[in-house]
Amino acid sequence: MTPDASALVQPAQVHRDLYTSPAIFALEMQRLWAGSWLFVGHDSQVPAAGDFVTTDLAGQPVLMLRREDGGIGVLHNRCAHKGAPLSTAAAGHADRYLRCPYHGWTYRLDGRLAGIPLKSGLPATADQPARAGYAGSGFEHCPAQDGLTAYGEVASHRGFVFARARPGGPPFDACLGELLQALDLLADRSPQGRLRVAGGVLRTTFAANWKIYLENINDAFHPVTTHASATEAAQGAWGTPPEGTPVPLAMRQLLPFAAGYDFFDQMGGRLLPHGCSVLGTRQSLHTAYTGLGGYAEALQAAHGRERAEAVLRFAPQNVVFYPSMALKGAPQVMRVLRPLAADRTVLEAWAFEAEGAPPELLQSALLYNRQVFSPLSIVAHDDLHLFEGIQRSLAADGNPWVSLHRGAAADADAGAVLPRDVSGIDEALLRHQYQAWAEKMAGPATGAEASP
Ligand code: FES
Ligand SMILES: [Fe+2]
Repeated sequence: MTPDASALVQPAQVHRDLYTSPAIFALEMQRLWAGSWLFVGHDSQVPAAGDFVTTDLAGQPVLMLRREDGGIGVLHNRCAHKGAPLSTAAAGHADRYLRCPYHGWTYRLDGRLAGIPLKSGLPATADQPARAGYAGSGFEHCPAQDGLTAYGEVASHRGFVFARARPGGPPFDACLGELLQALDLLADRSPQGRLRVAGGVLRTTFAANWKIYLENINDAFHPVTTHASATEAAQGAWGTPPEGTPVPLAMRQLLPFAAGYDFFDQMGGRLLPHGCSVLGTRQSLHTAYTGLGGYAEALQAAHGRERAEAVLRFAPQNVVFYPSMALKGAPQVMRVLRPLAADRTVLEAWAFEAEGAPPELLQSALLYNRQVFSPLSIVAHDDLHLFEGIQRSLAADGNPWVSLHRGAAADADAGAVLPRDVSGIDEALLRHQYQAWAEKMAGPATGAEASP
């Protein structure tokens, strides 16, 4: 029986089943994730025809690959024969054909079936009659002869590739709206306007629901308490050096976490359609990252003064592309969520190199991911430790509701008008995510959901 998701979201609280129920998780993948534009990868990962990466979209293993016509395709990573993955490597290259490792079926880069070993069977030999292949088997009328299945619709902007499994919702540009400007501002940190994925993707699997992580990305109320241990450690390591001592990059990134409630309140947030948002419209922990000699001039020469200033000003805490991704501008990093189960999620941390920009920008991005988002981070574990505890506690007896009441009295006045600007510490940012969740979960059933 299909669970009733609508009963789990109230105006200022959500029910624990929304985090813990495997049936709700399955419905989320079918209704919310399959109907959303999800980040797949960046085109710099597949520069040449035949290059591919493998990943997971809404619980579906997929390949993103560069076709021979230069376009990018997203295909289910499932051989048409018996379902073997075409590749289990994170990335690879196929010359002109993808070849299944199980029985050797081959596919063109657009997914069309190219060849089947022994398709015509085997000729008769002295001691054996001919062995039949596919002739007369009805194969030409079965789905396998269509080759690999396309994941759905694919769209990209400034190298960021997105896909949506279920067609029919708002088109890509309309759906992303203001978020396209965030991608533009990030890409224009390169004087050439081009980004490259740098340093691979850092992955952490944690034992908690994806929404606990995603709401934390919008939660500027937590660093004061959650990250007190990390900031105390950083302050202890930094000590009180003589005035004028240059602040090393690691400290420039960690010390701002010690900001107080006033700072986070003044950060500013913005609610956008489809559950998307910006935290840090006025300031963020990254605002004070200092400029580099010559960089501003290079940006001005490339983009003009006004644009260069806008690019350098762009330092949000997080821009959330609901439900799968959140990016920053400075540093040039982003996080991507790949849910595995109600209580299991993969977090990816990505870093970008802005082509033509000083190498310090790349170093800053790589260092930020290591210090703040990686499995070896001293900051992420403050959060992950709590997330895994929350997941266990929510499954236990007791109050079944999670409170989102901070600032909720203003919601009635604001109505449903979007975009809307809010305080950085207002739980309106969190309520906004769950409104989108409820709307998308009430959406139409997919073919997969309807099938027996
Ligand atoms: S499963 Fe791929 S060739 Fe058999
Ligand atoms: Fe945190």
